Amino acid sequence: MKIVMLGAPGAGKGTQAEKLAEKYALPHISTGDIFRKNLKEGTDLGKEAKTYMDAGKLVPDELTVRILLDRVGNDDCKDGYILDGFPRTIPQAEALDEELEKLGEKIDFAIDVDVPDENIVDRMSGRRACPKCGRTYHTQYMPPKKEGICDECASELIIRDDDKPETVKNRLKVYHEQTQPLVDYYKKKGVYHTVDGTAEVEAVFDSIKDILG
Ligand code: AP5
Repeated sequence: MKIVMLGAPGAGKGTQAEKLAEKYALPHISTGDIFRKNLKEGTDLGKEAKTYMDAGKLVPDELTVRILLDRVGNDDCKDGYILDGFPRTIPQAEALDEELEKLGEKIDFAIDVDVPDENIVDRMSGRRACPKCGRTYHTQYMPPKKEGICDECASELIIRDDDKPETVKNRLKVYHEQTQPLVDYYKKKGVYHTVDGTAEVEAVFDSIKDILG
């Protein structure tokens, strides 16, 4: 099963993708996480990606597509995967579909986690992330058991650099201009579904499980 998670920055794609990955035993692939991991390791890719991410812009398609196609070519992806934050532009979606067509495969579900812009800044300002294992929390809606500490690996939680209000506003603008056209793209393919992302985490998860069957 191949799933694409759509939705605005902070809509909860990563939160749901993580839960789905566990339930369906599929890899959770987040291009944002790949860029952040590279940045932490000080690679050239990480340094290049940072200049775009800190400005709330998208990393160029050519680079992003290359990294994603390389990742989905790994052995652990042969039974499917959950893509979180990719594709984000029409050319990215087309590049992925072209590659899948060569293998006689396709995306089975595009799940849009729908959250209005008004709720996004609140979501982002309370987000805390684990720099080690990548798990995400929210100070109010999904707090860790011990304040500021990751439940999984006991690392100290951080605030992401791109969660500053000005950057968030720019990320939302970029989302509406470049990523929202994917709604029509996946509607035309007959795989588009939307869920109310303003509901509680477990309720959103239940809606997605109903769609996947
Ligand atoms: P990326 O890391 O993909 O960020 P994003 O898409 O902007 O999404 P986020 O991770 O911010 O949010 P999310 O929807 O996963 O929400 P989360 O579950 O964390 O990308 C970062 C940057 O990398 C981009 O700006 C770009 O520069 C670059 N990039 C990445 N992919 C790219 C691509 N394909 N092409 C080009 N550039 C790319 O939830 C948010 C918060 O809300 C959390 O605190 C969470 O606990 C809380 N929350 C979640 N669900 C709920 C709920 N139901 N109720 C209450 N709170 C909730």
